[in-house]
Amino acid sequence: MPIIEWKEDYLVGVQQIDLHHQHLFALLNATYDAFVNKDPAERLNSLFDELIDYATYHFSAEEELMRKIRYPELEKQRKEHGVFSEKVVEIQKDYQAGRKGISLEILSFLQEWLTVHILQADREIGRFLVSSNGRQTPGLLKDTKHVE
Ligand SMILES: [Fe+2]
Repeated sequence: MPIIEWKEDYLVGVQQIDLHHQHLFALLNATYDAFVNKDPAERLNSLFDELIDYATYHFSAEEELMRKIRYPELEKQRKEHGVFSEKVVEIQKDYQAGRKGISLEILSFLQEWLTVHILQADREIGRFLVSSNGRQTPGLLKDTKHVE
């Protein structure tokens, strides 16, 4: 069973962000699978590294988009992304030094953080775009589902 399941509630309404989020979910589920199947630590750690690399890439893309649309909560988002990144770097350091491995606690933290962040912070980006009617960036909301 996956640790995180995609549902429509997670849609932000911006195709690029939604695709990134879905890929993050897939990577988290692959990491969780490796954990449950007791795969070798190197495999688990490399999946975790991939997840973190992708999250970093995604955060900068999301922040770039927020800059482009002059999103008023950009700073708040950057801070949240920063706190998350610090925490996962700590986790990476721990297993690189052989102090601590990936645990269910860590995977649950990622699951919880992602869902709360998407539902409470990222979805606001879509709402902002809908309320400003895509004025600044025509076409950005095209081909995506409407956000309530
Ligand atoms: Fe975000």
